[in-house]
Amino acid sequence: MAVHPGPPIDLFDYELWAKERLSQAVWDDIASGAADEMTVAGNRQAFDRIAIRPRVLVDLSRIDTATSALGIPIDAPILVASSAGHRAIRPEADCTTALGVGRAGIAMVAAAGSNRSIEDTAGVATSPLWLQRRTDVLKALAPRPRVFMIGRPILWGLATSGADGVFDVLTILQRGLV
Ligand SMILES: Cc1cc2nc3c(=O)[nH]c(=O)nc-3n(C[C@H](O)[C@H](O)[C@H](O)COP(=O)(O)O)c2cc1C
Repeated sequence: MAVHPGPPIDLFDYELWAKERLSQAVWDDIASGAADEMTVAGNRQAFDRIAIRPRVLVDLSRIDTATSALGIPIDAPILVASSAGHRAIRPEADCTTALGVGRAGIAMVAAAGSNRSIEDTAGVATSPLWLQRRTDVLKALAPRPRVFMIGRPILWGLATSGADGVFDVLTILQRGLV
């Protein structure tokens, strides 16, 4: 698939734009999975099995995607999954991601292998920043699947246009919910 002229308009565009901007080594790290990559393939298949039933002539004037996770209000049921190695994508690393995430009003999980200290990232974060502790994530998801985490699309946004790209990716996802 070729990159079209003009700004990216959906997540597939962001994937293509990010690929064009990153070295082969960094791109391969982001795009690949562990071992035989069975989970990456399985996730894709599971996602493709979900069909959206289009509705028309529905009142959209009072849609509110806001919810909460671990009792903390967030603007949409989306969490930014922990991913290590942001410095390979942008020198400011996790701080830039946190700026885009903050603008979207969504919580971010800082990876154990973050390239910036938690103090640095917390210093610019304007939305909840969580540390990677397995029990916290499980607590967020256990009652019912009220929120979902995304990983790679955030990295595509970071690679394409920094905080603006992260924000735009989250906006695209949020709009997809309404
Ligand atoms: C480059 C990269 C680094 C990652 N680092 C971590 C990590 O440090 N800790 C972790 O729990 N998951 C890590 N993950 C997994 C992501 O949190 C997420 O589960 C995975 O990317 C699947 O979500 P996605 O299909 O939206 O990308 C990483 C993923 C990528 C692509």
